[in-house]
This record gives sequence, structure tokens and C-alpha cells, in this order.
Amino acid sequence: MPAKQIRRVRVAHSADLSNGRRLIVDIGESTIGLFRFKDEVYAYANTCPHQGGPVCQGLLTPRVKEDVQPDRTVTGMLYDVDRLHIVCPWHGAEFDVTTGRHATTDKLRLQPYTVTEEEGEIYVDLR
Ligand code: FES
Repeated sequence: MPAKQIRRVRVAHSADLSNGRRLIVDIGESTIGLFRFKDEVYAYANTCPHQGGPVCQGLLTPRVKEDVQPDRTVTGMLYDVDRLHIVCPWHGAEFDVTTGRHATTDKLRLQPYTVTEEEGEIYVDLR
């Protein structure tokens, strides 16, 4: 069986994707979410590994955790601005934008695409 060719496709202008934001692009039959966080660009299929929801269109939020004290009381919520999560709109599964991993289980992971940014353009490798 012949190996599938990889096609590099320009998907956006760099200037259209600012830090902490996302773009949703349609390339042929694929819908891809592009995310920029801390000056890096990430790309994932817009299909949730849970039940196929449009995960890339979900809420973008810093990771949230409770502020648990040594005596196990909770004094409030903490927002970890060093971690950006996307929350699937269908059932609330949360994924780290930089890794595509689910916040609590290794069983769910977004399908990544290889991304290149050159001379003000963003490219994604498609198979
Ligand atoms: S389809 Fe995304 S959380 Fe269920």
C-alpha cells in the first residue's frame, strides 16, 4: 500500500491569530481549530474524542482549581494563567491547548496537526 502524501496547506495569516485566541478553519472536509498561546500555534481536529462534539469551538479558559488549604478547607478558586484549557461545548471535557490532553485522564486526547508558521503565514500538514 503506498504511503499517504503529506500536504502543507496555508490556513491563516499569523496576524489573524493573537495570543490566547483561536480560529476555526475549514480545509476540504476537515475542520481544524488553531490556537495561539504564549506565541506558539497549535492545531487540532474539531472533533472531540469523547463523542465527536465541536471541541475547538468551546470556551477558552485558564485552568481552574480550588485553593485547598493544608487543613483541606477551600478558600476559593485559582486561575492558572500559565495553562489554557478548551472546554468542549457538548459535555464539558477540558483539554490543555498546548498538549491536547484531557485535564484528568490520558484516555482522551485531541487529534493534533503539525503546524508551521513562516513569514507571517500559518500552515498545517494534512494527510
Ligand atoms: S463530545 Fe466533547 S465532551 Fe462529550
